[in-house]
Amino acid sequence: MRKVCYTVTMISQEQIRNVALIAHINHGKSTLADRLLERTGTIPPLKMRAQFLDNMELERERGVTIKLKTVRMKYALPDHLKRILHFEFCTLNLLDTPGHVDFSYEVSRSLAACEGAILIVDAVAGIQAQTVAHTQRALDLGLKIIPVVNKTDLVGAEPEKVADDLVKTFGLSRDEILFASAKKDEGTEEILQAIAVRVPPPSGNLEAPLRALVFDSSYDEYKGAIAFVRIVDGKLFLSEPRSWSNKKEIHFLASGAECEPVEGGYFTPEMKPTEGLSTGEVGYIATGLKDINLVKVGDTVTNVKTQMSNVKALSGYKEPKPVVFVSFYPLDNKDFSELEVALKKLQLTDPAVSFSRESGSLGQGFRCGFLGVFHAEIVKERLERDHNLELFATSPSVEYLTINKEQRAIIRGAGDLPQTTAEVLEPWVRAQIFTPKKYLGAGLELCQDKRGVPVSTDYVNESQVKLVYELPLVELISDFFDQLKSLSSGFASLDYELIEHRLVEVSRLDILVAGDLVEPLAQIVLKERAALVGRKTVARLKKVIPKQQFAVALQAVVGGKILARETIPALRKDVTAKLYGGDITRKRKLLEKQKKGKKKLKKFGRVPLPQEAFFAVSVNPSG
Ligand code: GTP
Repeated sequence: MRKVCYTVTMISQEQIRNVALIAHINHGKSTLADRLLERTGTIPPLKMRAQFLDNMELERERGVTIKLKTVRMKYALPDHLKRILHFEFCTLNLLDTPGHVDFSYEVSRSLAACEGAILIVDAVAGIQAQTVAHTQRALDLGLKIIPVVNKTDLVGAEPEKVADDLVKTFGLSRDEILFASAKKDEGTEEILQAIAVRVPPPSGNLEAPLRALVFDSSYDEYKGAIAFVRIVDGKLFLSEPRSWSNKKEIHFLASGAECEPVEGGYFTPEMKPTEGLSTGEVGYIATGLKDINLVKVGDTVTNVKTQMSNVKALSGYKEPKPVVFVSFYPLDNKDFSELEVALKKLQLTDPAVSFSRESGSLGQGFRCGFLGVFHAEIVKERLERDHNLELFATSPSVEYLTINKEQRAIIRGAGDLPQTTAEVLEPWVRAQIFTPKKYLGAGLELCQDKRGVPVSTDYVNESQVKLVYELPLVELISDFFDQLKSLSSGFASLDYELIEHRLVEVSRLDILVAGDLVEPLAQIVLKERAALVGRKTVARLKKVIPKQQFAVALQAVVGGKILARETIPALRKDVTAKLYGGDITRKRKLLEKQKKGKKKLKKFGRVPLPQEAFFAVSVNPSG
């Protein structure tokens, strides 16, 4: 029997401060979190390491926060604040949010769990698209913003200018703005003091029926699905010390799940069991549920029989909705069940991933849904790395809709495209782009080229422009971001949200390789650009498909009509023959390289295709 060490918590609501760390990607959230952990003595110096909260191997390698982190700190107030606030310690719950645009919904739920947000802005990069998007969400939720201009130590830092921009953009007052170098531990104490003084304690009624907001989740083999919660009203098990196992039911209003929690507590950042959680506290409930999908981000937890009470669900809940789809196939068909196990395991820690079986010419695989292309990339890497799998991935795609006699159906790929004249709709987003003034022209051109519809162009300050465009999602997930970065020398930034589906005229473009139709290479293309996309696709395929003993014809076909053609010439017999003089090391290297290349080939008809062939097929209907 595992021994659980409980601590009794009865924290005065007045002393709690719940704050989220928000910023555009890489502006320094995790580094500032390190300083706060050190200064409050939450992590002893010997245990401390850089970006402490980013504990996933992939997060540390890539230097990005993928999963939200929560930690409780005890902040001892300096004497002058003790006199003003009339208490000695603050219980500070910090939520370090992931910075990437793909995780915007998670960030919005974290914000809903807090009364304050520390807005970090890089003193060199200044205000970026997600700075604005996150701040707007925080302001809409009524959070107190603590603006911090970070990285003041950097050469090229313009803290005063960035502070002015913050004033102009968000209507903040100049003296609210703090300056810091998270790297050098400058400004940390001022940030802690500002949290204690400026962020209000949680409101909420301790005597009301329990309402807790689920802002994140995870999974533990023994404790089951774990809900990360903020207690909005009431209390959980507080009146019955040492009674976590006392058969107390809780209910999840959106998922309808009911359970008797096996444990609850708060984050240090490890899970620390307690005897209860009360209004205003941030912590976790280990539900014992084996199905992670029953614990949904944004759901409301209560312990009153819902049908008998009028407990109102907390607002802001959204069903998780994948927007980008990628199919994964094991390179070796016999690894299919391993892939299934791996996906199930991964979903426990990342419920935003959805997957369903599919089989076709590539064998058996899974069609997986993601929050965005970055999310898909991360998941593929985790599957390959953590589960030692070799995967084939198709190009990312979006879901189209058809409407036939008022019946809506989802089109998952070119194969689902109806032969009839049904209307087809594609998903659109509203994108917000921040760019220095001098790249405005190039930015506008890019949006125009990607079928964008302009909404507004505003000068945020003398040097930066905010462009709002509506764009087809599919245009955005191909190479829009890379193009935007390259045309602006890395300075422009992007944030977007899904808005609606709109009509589009598309056809199915098939690819024949040596006369064989290769289904996974079929694409949905804009009718008017089918020939162009066809030409581009066969040209790209020619570059990546290895030569065979025979000449291989590549054809792009729409409705039986060949629109483009390329030929891969036959292979010369000895691959090393062209190397003069028999340099054995060079020969060996070339053969090794060939051997390696072969590992990632998937036999298709007469011609084995490499992974690159599937990426050569553009997801973008305009090519
Ligand atoms: P995501 O969670 O991935 O969005 O990033 P983040 O906002 O958590 O940023 P992170 O703390 O990972 O910092 C990004 C980079 O900026 C790292 O290389 C840090 O070392 C660096 N950095 C953070 N704060 C400072 C600072 O005050 N000065 C300097 N010079 N570098 C800093």
